[in-house]
Amino acid sequence: MIYFLRNNIITISLLGRTALVCGSSKGIGKASAFELAKLDANIILLARSESELKSLVKELPGQGKHSFLAIDISEREKLKISVQQLLSTYNKIHILVNNTGGPKGGLITEATEDEFLQTFQNHVLVSSLLANLLLSGMKEDNYGRIINIISTSVKIPLANLGVSNTIRGAMASWAKTLSNEVARFGITVNNILPGYTDTERLDVLMSNAAQKQNKTKEQIRAEWEKSVPIGRFARPEEIASAVAFLASPSASYINGINLPVDGGRTGSL
Ligand SMILES: NC(=O)c1ccc[n+]([C@@H]2O[C@H](COP(=O)([O-])OP(=O)(O)OC[C@H]3O[C@@H](n4cnc5c(N)ncnc54)[C@H](OP(=O)(O)O)[C@@H]3O)[C@@H](O)[C@H]2O)c1
Repeated sequence: MIYFLRNNIITISLLGRTALVCGSSKGIGKASAFELAKLDANIILLARSESELKSLVKELPGQGKHSFLAIDISEREKLKISVQQLLSTYNKIHILVNNTGGPKGGLITEATEDEFLQTFQNHVLVSSLLANLLLSGMKEDNYGRIINIISTSVKIPLANLGVSNTIRGAMASWAKTLSNEVARFGITVNNILPGYTDTERLDVLMSNAAQKQNKTKEQIRAEWEKSVPIGRFARPEEIASAVAFLASPSASYINGINLPVDGGRTGSL
């Protein structure tokens, strides 16, 4: 295991490892990129907004070499070519964080076929494409970490998130299947299930709920926070520290799990 001393504290090191962090221009993805960078991994940020990524890449800490890929993941052929090009620069990418914007809300009876298909493509097919592109390098180095940001709806479906609940289940099942196939090569595959996390997405969800229920956003926030045993939303960094741990050598025997990081909100064992 690789540890090093920083400010007299023993820290895990990801020096020499490269991480592709999807959906990293904001929210949970951005926080994950920062946590991994603090452990000295090389970071490749990925999202659509080039201007955002251009400035973020300069702010990333650590000793790693950082870069970014501005791309819309729904363009899978373009994504495949871009990641193949990245591999010629970095040679190997050892850590993959599969993450993107959350699916649109709504009742399952009102969801269109397009909503199901697009969500399946952007979540399951993109994750599978990226994993398949990176697996051979991970195998060669006998070190790989695939971490998927999903949702607690994997354990208990959430009301008014019909398409999301359906596709989250598919993602979790894909990940578990993959974890069985690649574990013997030093590659682990795990899912993080965030609870309420203070990001732009949550802000939009609160605004929508406030409008629908004729309440203020502050009222919605108070109600939602009350449903969490810890009594508050997560900071994105609190989700990201779980990502960083799972990416590290210390998590080598954790494989195929769904880890809720939700302040205890999910009511299942
Ligand atoms: N926040 C929560 O409370 C919470 C709770 C449970 C689960 N989750 C799930 O966790 C994931 C991340 O949530 P978040 O709150 O961090 O979301 P967010 O703040 O909306 O961030 C989403 C990220 O994905 C990128 N992205 C979106 N569509 C993309 C596309 N087509 N191609 C490339 N990049 C794309 C966005 O950047 P660009 O716009 O620049 O592309 C952004 O960096 C989502 O699946 C969400 O549903 C969140």
